[in-house]
Amino acid sequence: MQDKHKLSTFYHGKRVFVTGHTGFKGSWLCQWLVTMGADVMGYSIDIPTKPSLFEVLQLPTQLQDIRGDVRDFDTLQKAIQSFQPQVLFHLAAQPIVRDSYKNPIETFETNVMGSIYIMECIRQLMKTQPAFPLESVVMVTSDKCYENQNQVMGYRENDPMGGHDPYSASKGCMEMAVSSYQKSFFQKSPIGIATVRAGNVIGGGDWGKDRLLPDIAKAFSVSQAVTLRNPLSVRPWQHVLEPLSGYLLVGKCLAEDPASFSEGWNLGPLETDIATVEDVVKKCIQVWPTNTYDVQQDDSLHETSILQLDVHKAIAKLHWKPTWTLNEAIEKTIQWYKTFYEKGSKASKVETNQQILDYMNV
Ligand SMILES: NC(=O)c1ccc[n+]([C@@H]2O[C@H](COP(=O)([O-])OP(=O)(O)OC[C@H]3O[C@@H](n4cnc5c(N)ncnc54)[C@H](O)[C@@H]3O)[C@@H](O)[C@H]2O)c1
Repeated sequence: MQDKHKLSTFYHGKRVFVTGHTGFKGSWLCQWLVTMGADVMGYSIDIPTKPSLFEVLQLPTQLQDIRGDVRDFDTLQKAIQSFQPQVLFHLAAQPIVRDSYKNPIETFETNVMGSIYIMECIRQLMKTQPAFPLESVVMVTSDKCYENQNQVMGYRENDPMGGHDPYSASKGCMEMAVSSYQKSFFQKSPIGIATVRAGNVIGGGDWGKDRLLPDIAKAFSVSQAVTLRNPLSVRPWQHVLEPLSGYLLVGKCLAEDPASFSEGWNLGPLETDIATVEDVVKKCIQVWPTNTYDVQQDDSLHETSILQLDVHKAIAKLHWKPTWTLNEAIEKTIQWYKTFYEKGSKASKVETNQQILDYMNV
């Protein structure tokens, strides 16, 4: 990405509202924003995992920590109104495909209605408060929002939305709802609104269920073999700081030129870094040797086997591009987990800040 230090200049002193701040990506994003000098309010229900990056980073000491549900319109609106944000990142979601089969209603309510409530809060505040300072809104969806054709070519931003499982469909629905609000209510307003679609994110501090790197870290830290369910599935893996740099850049571009950037953006890895689950575990074993894996085929729930994003639009129009290769992303991730399991939380907080600085300085 061109000159990441311009992000620091933009976010320094900005009031930034982040939903999903107690989660994996939200915690990395908040730490990065605080490092750049932003004033952050986070809004989420409770911390989704134990341990958690949120606690490792001691985020409540660094930002305003509000516990609320995105399905609770009144509480959400009060928080946004009281904080008067200039930038809003919406990450709160039920993000696990397998959980979406168990709890489809909760998944749709949180991911679709929660996003609509964000849009509606902004629409009402914009109408009732002429000086409402919001400039940009970045709505986080997923690479899974596309109608999946099991195609080898990467999905482009104008491909149809869809989704087989409830999680993927909820992100496709969210895309359509945000686009409708943007076209119906914000097209002529000074507020820029975009959706961002990223792939399988890896990085230290994720302990989410049914995710490959957390499963590897938990198993390897006690010298056990990790069990793979779908070793041949192809995924667009990337370090968490890659999509986050894209979210931050989209937020800046929206504030500077809302009409040109209010659309959907793919923020995945380059084609050279798209790999199977088995490739990734083998690379992890190179960095954390003497460990092993086994395979337990599980066909009971449908999961897409090939998923790739075409990122040419982001490269051309945003001047964004991935910074770390897959090998570097895996090294950073395994390094983070080894630090946590061998040295503890304090050292992992230092490691997080160091990785953010390293990323900024590439
Ligand atoms: N991690 C990935 O690989 C990945 C890939 C593509 C997209 N995403 C998207 O990125 C976002 C963040 O994902 P993550 O991996 O950090 O997930 P996570 O589970 O670690 O965090 C989810 C966050 O949302 C909050 N949340 C859940 N339900 C809520 C509700 N009803 N009201 C308020 N807050 C609620 C949780 O408390 C938590 O803060 C999600 O929108 C997810 O769909 C993640």
